[in-house]
Amino acid sequence: MAQLIDGKALSAKVLQQVASEVASLSAEHGIKPMLAVVLVGEDPASQIYVRNKMKRASEVGIGSREYVLDAGITQDELAQLIDALNNDADVHGILVQLPLPAQLDEDTVIESVHPDKDVDGFHPLNVGALAAGSDTVVPCTPQGCMIMLRQIHSDLSGKHAVVIGRSNIVGKPMAMLLLQANCTVTIAHSHTQGIESLCRQADIVIAAVGCRELVDADWVKPGATVIDVGINAIEIDGTRKLVGDVAFDAVSQVAGAISPVPGGVGPMTIACLLLNTTGAVKRQLPRTFDLASGTVNKPIRSYCYVRS
Ligand code: GUN
Repeated sequence: MAQLIDGKALSAKVLQQVASEVASLSAEHGIKPMLAVVLVGEDPASQIYVRNKMKRASEVGIGSREYVLDAGITQDELAQLIDALNNDADVHGILVQLPLPAQLDEDTVIESVHPDKDVDGFHPLNVGALAAGSDTVVPCTPQGCMIMLRQIHSDLSGKHAVVIGRSNIVGKPMAMLLLQANCTVTIAHSHTQGIESLCRQADIVIAAVGCRELVDADWVKPGATVIDVGINAIEIDGTRKLVGDVAFDAVSQVAGAISPVPGGVGPMTIACLLLNTTGAVKRQLPRTFDLASGTVNKPIRSYCYVRS
């Protein structure tokens, strides 16, 4: 039987670290980190995610403000809110819950969040910094997956990792992080040929494709580490249940280590979001506060990003 990578227990340790950073920021700078969460529309899954994020934030001493906007909001109205949050010195992190309703251009919204307040690591400047291997904010889910992997592998060098899924939120940044850890990385997606045999060669499989129980036992090399990012809601005999992208019971018989759904990547994603929020405060400290007088200078640094 595979070793269970318990995301709930591991996230509790990360949250402890966040709580201690929150205490230091309060003691040394008199700052309480503040996360603004923007939710557009009434997508039930997004509502649950946002509620969980705010609940955990409050448990570690991070303040949060929720902005619930009508599904029919215009691009300009949303831009105005984000602009106000960018310029609000009391707000350190901004998260716009995705996906957004179809009339809104997601890229434009992501680009409008100031890079220093971007707790998702989605702004193109932060994406570029991650790809270049510079120190920057790391997207929450891949960051959580890396912490989980390091529980199993003290050294990831030379491991063959197959990432299934190429989303901007998980697949692509995940591949970057694995590459930085000296893995040999293959990104598989819906057009990949022979995906099963490709996966069977992997020491590490990251399943992030949003396809219920896609990865079965015969996709997995004996002893491999399998991280399941998928969250798929299904109904069995009238009861709603969450399952991942991995057929957990079958794959557990083959893998060396496996993360469950629920209780795996989900709690790690939230813990890493809060870690990114204290990180955002620290990034803003030198510019935002004159440490000698304790006065506010400028809420944000100026930067230039132009998409043609
Ligand atoms: N929707 C699904 N995952 C995420 C995430 O990590 N951040 C945001 N902002 N939206 C999401």
